[in-house]
Amino acid sequence: MESTPYLTVDVEVLDRNLSDAADAAAASGLALRPHAKAHKCVEIARRQLELGAPGLTVATVGEAEVFAGGGCADLFIAYPVWATPARAARLRALAERATVRVGVDSAEAAALLAGTGAEVVVEIDSGHHRSGVHPAGAGELAAAAARLGLTVAGVFTFPGHGYGPGRQARAAADEAAAMRTAAEAMRAAGIEPGVRSGGSTPTASTSDSGALNEIRPGVYALNDAQQVELGTCGWGDVALTVAATVVSVAGDHLILDAGSKVLGADQPAWVTGGGRLPDHPGARVTALSEHHATVVFPPGAPRPARGEIVRVAPNHLCAAVNLADELVVVRNGLEIDRWRVAARGANA
Ligand SMILES: Cc1ncc(COP(=O)(O)O)c(C=O)c1O
Repeated sequence: MESTPYLTVDVEVLDRNLSDAADAAAASGLALRPHAKAHKCVEIARRQLELGAPGLTVATVGEAEVFAGGGCADLFIAYPVWATPARAARLRALAERATVRVGVDSAEAAALLAGTGAEVVVEIDSGHHRSGVHPAGAGELAAAAARLGLTVAGVFTFPGHGYGPGRQARAAADEAAAMRTAAEAMRAAGIEPGVRSGGSTPTASTSDSGALNEIRPGVYALNDAQQVELGTCGWGDVALTVAATVVSVAGDHLILDAGSKVLGADQPAWVTGGGRLPDHPGARVTALSEHHATVVFPPGAPRPARGEIVRVAPNHLCAAVNLADELVVVRNGLEIDRWRVAARGANA
């Protein structure tokens, strides 16, 4: 593979991340249902299932179709799916070949799911303030869904407000408190929340196994610059990097041939730039345009020469993977395989 930019996966790092997380979840008594939107890749999903995952999490019906086709028989669409007639028909077809659970945060959305064969999982807001009902409202919504003839499997939340330096512990505590409230509300409404699903990569290791029985991290498999900057992992745990060539050197900065069309454009206010160079931890990606990354090195730090290939960790790997057709799999720096990003663009 001589033409940069392209995405590489170090398979040894990947396998270690997968087995460490599987072992940690098992030791805490939590089911690990990995979010496959992070890697979108059937080969990685199979490794996760072989390590004991009861099934996968996905974000869309399209992703569920791809992973069902790849052999996964248990899928949770952790998203408030709006089942238009066309989407309901796809869900019905999917539910004939796999166990399918779907997130729901309104009685209106639940009504559209009736008759699809999918079970529903009530989404609650534990502090991220995205989708989800107030935890105390979980019982009322679960009862409404049950009246529509739906099987209510349980409750879920995404503690996304843990994304930010020093915010993880608080978000995990919010998640646990919200899940306890929601579970009580559902029991009071006569519905047992068999599934109590939470988790994100930053909060996974501090998930409260008294309040949850399942976690759904996704990024943990490959890791990215955001996770390193949050302290969730170290550089040695980053399995996915972009191979990019130094194409220009000017003054105190150089230019790589990987811009936002390869690295993705995600750049929350708390990160230090547009990605990181694991082999040059002092360097900063100070600007990204579509095909250029501008990288500044600290004075006196060793820097790569024109024509050299360097590794860049994207800020948010989900976005970077969604821009690539394939992942170049390496072991000890040598290409051993290519994996298709099978669920790329499966956004509907
Ligand atoms: C609903 C839901 N569950 C799980 C995850 C996975 O968390 P992470 O991306 O931190 O691995 C996400 C990520 O966006 C999500 O939206």
